[in-house]
Amino acid sequence: SNPALWGGRFTEATDAFVQAFTASVTFDQRLASYDIQGSLAHAKMLAAQSIITDEDYQAIVGGLSQISAEIERGEFQWSIALEDVHMNIESRLTQLIGAAGKKLHTGRSRNDQVATDIRLFLRDEIDAIASQLLETIAVLGQLADREHATIMPGFTHLQTAQPVTFGHHMLAWAEMLKRDYGRLIDSRARCNSMPLGSAALAGTPYPLDRQMTMSELGFETMSANSLDAVSDRDFIIEFCSFASVLMMHMSRFSEELILWTSAQFGFINLPDKFCTGSSIMPQKKNPDVPELLRGKTGRVYGHLMSVLTLMKSQPLAYNKDNQEDKEPLFDTVDTVRNSLTAFRDMMAAVTVNPPAMRQAVARGFATATDLADYLVGKGLPFRDAHEVVGKAVGWCVEHGGDLSDLPLEQLQAFHPSITADVSEVLTLEGSVNARSLPGGTAPVRVAEAAKATLAWVEER
Ligand code: ARG
Repeated sequence: SNPALWGGRFTEATDAFVQAFTASVTFDQRLASYDIQGSLAHAKMLAAQSIITDEDYQAIVGGLSQISAEIERGEFQWSIALEDVHMNIESRLTQLIGAAGKKLHTGRSRNDQVATDIRLFLRDEIDAIASQLLETIAVLGQLADREHATIMPGFTHLQTAQPVTFGHHMLAWAEMLKRDYGRLIDSRARCNSMPLGSAALAGTPYPLDRQMTMSELGFETMSANSLDAVSDRDFIIEFCSFASVLMMHMSRFSEELILWTSAQFGFINLPDKFCTGSSIMPQKKNPDVPELLRGKTGRVYGHLMSVLTLMKSQPLAYNKDNQEDKEPLFDTVDTVRNSLTAFRDMMAAVTVNPPAMRQAVARGFATATDLADYLVGKGLPFRDAHEVVGKAVGWCVEHGGDLSDLPLEQLQAFHPSITADVSEVLTLEGSVNARSLPGGTAPVRVAEAAKATLAWVEER
């Protein structure tokens, strides 16, 4: 049968399969509390404008609060025949309070209603995700503070390049998350705009007080064009795009954690609770959590692509296509929230293995650039210094050992201006300490940057 809400025009019942195919209630019931919040604000405004009576308004408030309780208790009877969350709630309201329930939809359409619901939902989720991001950044800041002087190899091309500090590496991650936070907060402003008053597409002749509904719902702005308001899903695309960049970052971090926990690296240890074993190989401890984080990135990218593709070619104004915006959005929100929780808790529990990191730096001739810089200090042009050190490294590769293992006479064979003060230059501490410009890896800078990161979080 057709929902009573629109049955007037129809002569034939909707096909049962089509009914199920077109229904969204199985997933959009997640918006119920926002739908009720929006309806309460709309009804209050209708009464204030004398479009409905105060008695009608009181009845609507009573009915909606009962519905809200029924939903919370899991007693609400959701019906596919009533298509979506909006019509399910409205139909129950009319069942409960009679004629007043039928007046709620005055000056409103499901088109501006659903756009409002999603914006209210997403605004809450954005706020929750923003706090999670701040907590995660703080965890990285604390770890950086603790390990500000711990030396590890820095890589380019995944080959040992120069020594860096572990804290510096953690703060590189924190910087990425700070930009993600900025993108999220920017997107909030565009999400926080009220579509109500746009009705189906053209606006409505009722004397609605949009300003009042807007403040009731805590929206910062109201839509400036009714056609745009009911069909705009940019704010979802922006959120999914923020989420994709965030997941890309967490996937990069995860990739490093997976490498670092391997026996070949052994830089860090992930507590057992973030790992699983193998059903066949007794020695295995697999870094499941970072692997899953890396894997979940794909589905979030997929959702961004879904919503972008959903919107491409849609003519104005609302089209039923838009019903397809919710599942990708909901899954993006859930995936991001779970991933941030997992990542934060995991990073709070990571322990580092400084000897393994030192050994790895030593194997990689990480102070070769320092030796070249030393020769520049003795008057050689940088290109010549580069050549001299290259030969020294080649000798070490052939005969074994690191530059710092070479006796002074051996080094002098590569260039006579090398003197005893070179030993200081070839130490890992000397190398990182020398890089003390703002933004550099010197422990003194990293300790400052870690404190600045924690202060940045505190200010938010
Ligand atoms: N369930 C619909 C959606 O999610 C609500 C809006 C329906 N509007 C319409 N004219 N069919 O988009």
